[in-house]
Amino acid sequence: MRKNLIAGNWKMNATHLEAIQMVQKLSYRLDHNDYQRVDVVVCPPFTALRSAQTVIETDHLPIGLGAQNVYWEQKGAYTGEIAPDMLAKLSVSYVIVGHSERRELFGETDEDVNRKVKAVLDAGMTPILCVGETEAEREDGVTEAKVGGQVRAGLAGVTSDQIAGMVVAYEPIWAIGTGRTASDDDAGAMATYIRNTIADIAGEAAEETRILYGGSMNPGNVAGLMAKRDIDGGLVGGASLDPDTFASVIRYWV
Ligand code: 13P
Repeated sequence: MRKNLIAGNWKMNATHLEAIQMVQKLSYRLDHNDYQRVDVVVCPPFTALRSAQTVIETDHLPIGLGAQNVYWEQKGAYTGEIAPDMLAKLSVSYVIVGHSERRELFGETDEDVNRKVKAVLDAGMTPILCVGETEAEREDGVTEAKVGGQVRAGLAGVTSDQIAGMVVAYEPIWAIGTGRTASDDDAGAMATYIRNTIADIAGEAAEETRILYGGSMNPGNVAGLMAKRDIDGGLVGGASLDPDTFASVIRYWV
């Protein structure tokens, strides 16, 4: 049985002080039953990880901590980069890897993404591997080729056991930050396609991999998306910045 997972990707938002308030407010709105049904994760910017972790630890909150990026080397002359172990030592358990904004704006290649996936796993954390097509690719009918290629490249050299514990987020680029969500059927079909692709690589382990949808997920559309067999949760951007709204997404069945 795959447990649902809803992760907030705060992107480049929130100072460390704001992060403290956001995590506290979120925790006031969630109860034991919510955490039983959903693994709740917040992914603040690097500079806010330590403060978020302190709140989570001090208040014994069952909220997971995620980072938005990582570098694959362990240490050395890589000015501005952050090593996997630096995150692991901060109790970070998830790392978003290969978000489309990193691929598009910062030139991350499939090879870079694969190195990061392996480095995150080596450090004992869980990668959230992001994949998704542009609007032009969807119109050209190459959505599956693009997404399938990203999944295969991202998972190259990763063992089936590791893949079982991983998270893959399907985020159609045209749906990110636009208010245009993929239809439940389209998103569900792509999640199934991704699981089938993973099964090609890793066999039965694919049944354990959690697949998320991301792209303008909000309290109004989350329930329909979550009803799809192969969608196990969400990677939420804008709607994760307001604790009330994010709590409503997490409590999607209410
Ligand atoms: P929005 O929810 O703001 O569309 O962002 C989705 C996303 O990119 C999450 O990683």
